[in-house]
Amino acid sequence: MTTEVLCVVGARPNFMKIAPLMAAFAARPIAAKLVHTGQHYDPAMSDSFFEQLGIPRPDVNLEVGSSSHAAQTADIMRAFEPVLDVQQPRAVLVVGDVNSTIACALVAAKKNIKVIHVEAGLRSDDRRMPEEINRILTDQLSDLLYTTERTALDNLLREGIAAERVQFVGNVMIDTLRAHLDRAVPAATTLGGKPPRGYAVVTLHRPSNVDSPAILQRLLETLAEVARTLDVVFPIHPRTRAAAERLGLSGLLAAPGMRLLAPLGYLEMLGLMRDATLVITDSGGLQEETTALGVPCITVRENTERPITIAEGTNTLTGPDPEKILACFREILANGGKRGRNPEYWDGQAAVRIAAHLRGWLDAGSA
Ligand code: UD1
Repeated sequence: MTTEVLCVVGARPNFMKIAPLMAAFAARPIAAKLVHTGQHYDPAMSDSFFEQLGIPRPDVNLEVGSSSHAAQTADIMRAFEPVLDVQQPRAVLVVGDVNSTIACALVAAKKNIKVIHVEAGLRSDDRRMPEEINRILTDQLSDLLYTTERTALDNLLREGIAAERVQFVGNVMIDTLRAHLDRAVPAATTLGGKPPRGYAVVTLHRPSNVDSPAILQRLLETLAEVARTLDVVFPIHPRTRAAAERLGLSGLLAAPGMRLLAPLGYLEMLGLMRDATLVITDSGGLQEETTALGVPCITVRENTERPITIAEGTNTLTGPDPEKILACFREILANGGKRGRNPEYWDGQAAVRIAAHLRGWLDAGSA
């Protein structure tokens, strides 16, 4: 059977986005195949997500692994091009904003294959973030752009992208959250008993936070301060652990109340967030997941590409500033933090909407 849509994943946050799409494409049906670039390759960062989320085994694995941004992007491009020659899909579908997203979009566009971007139009307006560059360029290359929130259309129009190419469908990552909430592993299981004081879940991995010794030190000191009141449960990204060790900050990771974990599976992380007092993070995905769960979130970044989590959700931006983080933390302890509401179309049906629209688009001969 010919491939209609060749779907691409590479890094951890891609996996929860592709899972409901592959299921919706199989149901519609749309003839889809899956390429894994291998950007993330550790079992805990990759295989466990395929197992827990029931993602079909990739048809092709490019096995590129880690390197500098340029080398990683180039390796993905070189490895992806011959796959397109063999598969000859009508369109390539990419999700999110990682290096695999832009690399495969660029290869497809140069071969005159239509590009579909899921989670289009998000902007932090901060080009120091590698993901912001990936987002802008991927959207410029895309023929069909599916968005998660309405502000995304304004961003795309500002960059000269025609409104007809843009479809507001909602959030596929929240499809995955809603589909798996019942099966989430309770925090008490992951932690060997629920911490009596309650706990904060922490994730940190952005280069702007973990690659600067001064900023990482201040953040870890702040977490140690939080850990005096609540346990700090910290599933640590390999890059953050390596940075802390390199900078001689491992002592702070062992402060009283700090509970370091290896990267967790999706169902473990979901249960941990659901049962938490709050989340402290610099992740894009966790800002959205906490909004969907109604759990307060402190985002230790100066900006966010997901403004709906601030306007309607439970998210507060503090930057990496200890005073602001601790003030927000005290506020959450005192009154529970922002209540928030569930954003429009974050209802578990985004992938079904995409599959319905995409079937019509393909049938109309658009690709
Ligand atoms: C990538 C994405 C980021 C996303 C994050 C989620 C880009 C530009 N960044 O960042 O948007 O939020 O994934 O995790 O694509 N490593 C391992 N095992 C792995 C993968 C990575 O140990 O399976 C280590 C390597 O030392 C590697 C480092 O993590 O050098 C960084 O990996 P990389 O894929 O370059 O970027 P992330 O920081 O994971």
